[in-house]
Amino acid sequence: PEVISVQELANRMTERSVDVIKSLMKLGIMATASQTIDADTAELVVEELGHTAKRIAESDVEIGLGGEDEDVTENLVPRAPVVAVMGHVDHGKTSLLDALRKSDVVAGEAGGITQHIGAYQVTLANGSEITFLDTPGHEAFTAMRMRGAQVTDIVILVVAADDSVMPQTIEAIKHAKAAEVPIIVAINKCDKPAADPNKVRQELLQHEIFVEDMGGDVLDVEVSATKGTGLDKLQEAIMLQAELLELKANPDRSAQGTVVEAKLETGRGMVATVLVSRGTLRVGDHFVMGTAMGKVRALLDYRGQQVKEAGPSVPVEVLGIQGAPVAGDDFAVTESEGKAKEIAEYRQRLDKTKKVTATARGTIEQMFSAI
Ligand code: GTP
Ligand code: MG
Repeated sequence: PEVISVQELANRMTERSVDVIKSLMKLGIMATASQTIDADTAELVVEELGHTAKRIAESDVEIGLGGEDEDVTENLVPRAPVVAVMGHVDHGKTSLLDALRKSDVVAGEAGGITQHIGAYQVTLANGSEITFLDTPGHEAFTAMRMRGAQVTDIVILVVAADDSVMPQTIEAIKHAKAAEVPIIVAINKCDKPAADPNKVRQELLQHEIFVEDMGGDVLDVEVSATKGTGLDKLQEAIMLQAELLELKANPDRSAQGTVVEAKLETGRGMVATVLVSRGTLRVGDHFVMGTAMGKVRALLDYRGQQVKEAGPSVPVEVLGIQGAPVAGDDFAVTESEGKAKEIAEYRQRLDKTKKVTATARGTIEQMFSAI
């Protein structure tokens, strides 16, 4: 199969594409810069031009980093659901996340924790855990999806009972549906005199959200984020939905996951909040993160406390990154520093090639027609 374009191959060797084309001609192959060639031919060209060929499996470049390695069922254990909150402006997304955070029995002291990272976990009284993404809004959700990342298991659609379905409510429904993520409706502000929860249920019908009262199977809960009512029911609904989804992961393997947030911080360097999707991430692990790489120098949980490891669905802040990952990037632990470097550099070249071909295609085609 054709694996690489002439242009890309030239870029990787920092050779001119005309020279690659000439070298191909010697082999009896007529190709243009944008044409793709197979790995064997590419290898011949590489050697002809005095370079050493090094093949990297396609799966290494993608998330697999070691080929097809589906986890066997026996190794799977339940993991916490990852929940995102969406809804119209002012309908109470932030208030609801704050209220839910306060119910964390581990954090204890009524909301006395400062938010450090873009995701947090709540441990319920019965010991079960829920992971909340603290990046509400469709932008974050779509930005992640555009990079092929799917970290959200459940969307909580917040609809203010005194305002009902609004444009961004509809947007949120569209996003959740496109991502095939189940929705739980939180009908908020039910403490308000003007609250009309039934109107919300009614209006949602038009957008094909059929809540239980309307004969459907979408869970809905009446809440008040400011009064704190209905929160236990909402948590119950999340756990029920999670159970239906049978969320499981293998914690006993090298970690893989997704970057939720990344930023450069004074004195701390590049810091990323990641969510482990499978495996367990540990201090000292070498990793690739998008086009960046690194070695885990420290892991901090959502309370800002240092931890030695993080398993599936556990959000942690990672220190020790070289490069600049962005939200939605994948990350994976590699067996060695060399491997991390190899993959990161390969990805950087791919990135550069994409940019080069986008801007310089015209000139390269002209160059070709000139020979
Ligand atoms: P944006 O981030 O701007 O989209 O808003 P949001 O959805 O995060 O809403 P936010 O939590 O900031 O709440 C908006 C306003 O509604 C604030 O003044 C809250 O105090 C108020 N509010 C939120 N939840 C409730 C509620 O359950 N009852 C009442 N009465 N007011 C609420
Ligand atoms: Mg908000």
